[in-house]
Amino acid sequence: MKINKVSKIIATIKVPADKSITHRAIMLSCLSNGTSVINNYLHSDDCKMTMNAFKLMGVEILQTRNSLTIKGVGLNGLKKSQQNIYAGNSGTTTRLISGILSGQNFSSTITGDDSLSKRPMKRVIEPLRLMEADIIAKDDNFLPLTINANGSLKSIDYVSKVASAQVKSCILLAGLYADGITSIIEPEKSRDHSERMMKAYGADIVVDNLKVSIKKCDKLHSQEINVPSDISSAAFFIVAGLILQNSKIKILEVNINPTRDGIIEVVKNMGANIKIDNIKNISGEEVADIEVSSSCLNCINIDEKIMPRLVDEIPILTLCATQAEGTTIISGAKELRVKESDRLFAIASQLNKMGANIKETEDGLIIHGKTKLKGCIVDSFKDHRIAMMLSIAGLIAEGATEIIDSDCVNISFSNFYEVLKEICK
Ligand code: S3P
Repeated sequence: MKINKVSKIIATIKVPADKSITHRAIMLSCLSNGTSVINNYLHSDDCKMTMNAFKLMGVEILQTRNSLTIKGVGLNGLKKSQQNIYAGNSGTTTRLISGILSGQNFSSTITGDDSLSKRPMKRVIEPLRLMEADIIAKDDNFLPLTINANGSLKSIDYVSKVASAQVKSCILLAGLYADGITSIIEPEKSRDHSERMMKAYGADIVVDNLKVSIKKCDKLHSQEINVPSDISSAAFFIVAGLILQNSKIKILEVNINPTRDGIIEVVKNMGANIKIDNIKNISGEEVADIEVSSSCLNCINIDEKIMPRLVDEIPILTLCATQAEGTTIISGAKELRVKESDRLFAIASQLNKMGANIKETEDGLIIHGKTKLKGCIVDSFKDHRIAMMLSIAGLIAEGATEIIDSDCVNISFSNFYEVLKEICK
């Protein structure tokens, strides 16, 4: 994709549905009794992987442009897939489904693409083994993952070393099948969509600060879910509106769940002109319109405390920091090394190519602002969030920016370039 510098953007837009919420709504609907409807679901490669996995296990999913109708088969109604479950690029599919598959009475094997096959799975294998799941993995950490489930799981009280919603959700989903009460304590609070949604589907789940407990469940009840827009997709346009001159961008109905809204806090502290309006509740999630306009930004420190609330926004926040006065320090971000790419390396190497002054540390980045960017050929490393961040960088860079493997935006935001083209007219 080739991106040219633009002088300004004035626009009101809607970004696609939340990826995390769509994955969870599909999974819980498949495991429910009755028919669920998911409106405004995310049409993306990652969510397709979750859908395909359940179709392979015998669930009927009727898909239209705007909604999914899912005939739930109940917690024990899934059938053994006749082929491997291919999770593509999706860490959420793999880690969450591992918890569900551990509770079945058949074996399953999960495979993935090159990137997913390099991502650590020990973080879910370890607690699931404590629950007495029989799991075989390459080098005991990587896909393919074979789960030889026999219909019995033991409850655990697990203290997790990583603040990861994927790990937490995996354990909670396995907890639906485990005798007694299963609990997990996290070092920091990660996104809580699973807790909110499992409660709505009828699971007996208790949240006590960093500890979440779930009781073995007989039945989940089908729901109608409306999925709000994803703040992680909105983030690219939030930053575009702040760093472009003479610009104003309004993004409608974005999920501002307090476990996901770190970007709002950070840009406010950087001096952003940002307004949050029209707050309402959609299917148990807080939603608002976010309006940003061109701002004089200053540097900031982002550390491990706030990291889970903005973990996917580090690429675009780094671009933001290149346009802020002073030195921004990002630390406690070593999780970014095991995302869809090594994001710390990808961000620093590609933005530096464009003229930024970023130093990579073991667990973060040091960004010296403010720097002028110039267009050149940059690599997305087939990582959707890197491709979109570099595209926004292209809007402020002198000359043309060419992004290699930009089609990976399909992982979370398939119409990203259409939206961008439309607002740059
Ligand atoms: C997600 C959790 C986060 C996030 C990912 C989606 C989820 O990953 O980075 O994009 O839906 O649970 P971790 O759990 O690895 O932090």
